[in-house]
Amino acid sequence: MDAIDALKTRRSVREYTREPVDTAVIEDLIDCARLAASARNVQPWEFIAITNRETRVKLADLAPNGPHIAHAPVCIAVVCAEGTYYLEDGAAATQNIMVAARAYGLGSCWVAGDKKPYAAQVLKLLGVPAGYKLVSLVTVGHAAARPVPTKRPLADVIHWEKF
Ligand SMILES: Cc1cc2nc3c(=O)[nH]c(=O)nc-3n(C[C@H](O)[C@H](O)[C@H](O)COP(=O)(O)O)c2cc1C
Repeated sequence: MDAIDALKTRRSVREYTREPVDTAVIEDLIDCARLAASARNVQPWEFIAITNRETRVKLADLAPNGPHIAHAPVCIAVVCAEGTYYLEDGAAATQNIMVAARAYGLGSCWVAGDKKPYAAQVLKLLGVPAGYKLVSLVTVGHAAARPVPTKRPLADVIHWEKF
């Protein structure tokens, strides 16, 4: 699958089969993430790959908006050192993980981290040192269902020269 297809067909997947994801693939998703653009190339990110079911269940218990964390074979926590652009940088890395997952034929879903009341508890559970923010928890796995949410058409969102 080329990059354009991966970008255009990625959709959030919240139902996964029990099939695990190869360790080499998880590593490559994180390799794609660490190559994302970042302001002044600070690369403030760290990535925690969580495959342990007990930990994933605890994460799902903390994040009521991410029950699928318990069922996906892997969850990647994207954390960034605090700084002016930590959120933009972490978001770019998160998107890379999801598009790369699609290119591998996998499903993924971004579960909110930044601004959520559970962020501090997640950071503690994952042993993240002080000075880091939780940007996202990304579930990854083989899709059991692929929803197709509607998207605003190109003609509605494109503007040339002025709004
Ligand atoms: C910043 C951000 C936070 C999100 N948080 C959650 C979340 O907590 N739980 C969830 O199931 N999906 C979450 N999503 C996924 C969105 O619901 C999803 O991207 C949106 O419905 C559009 O669907 P699509 O990803 O299939 O295009 C989040 C997405 C973004 C960008």
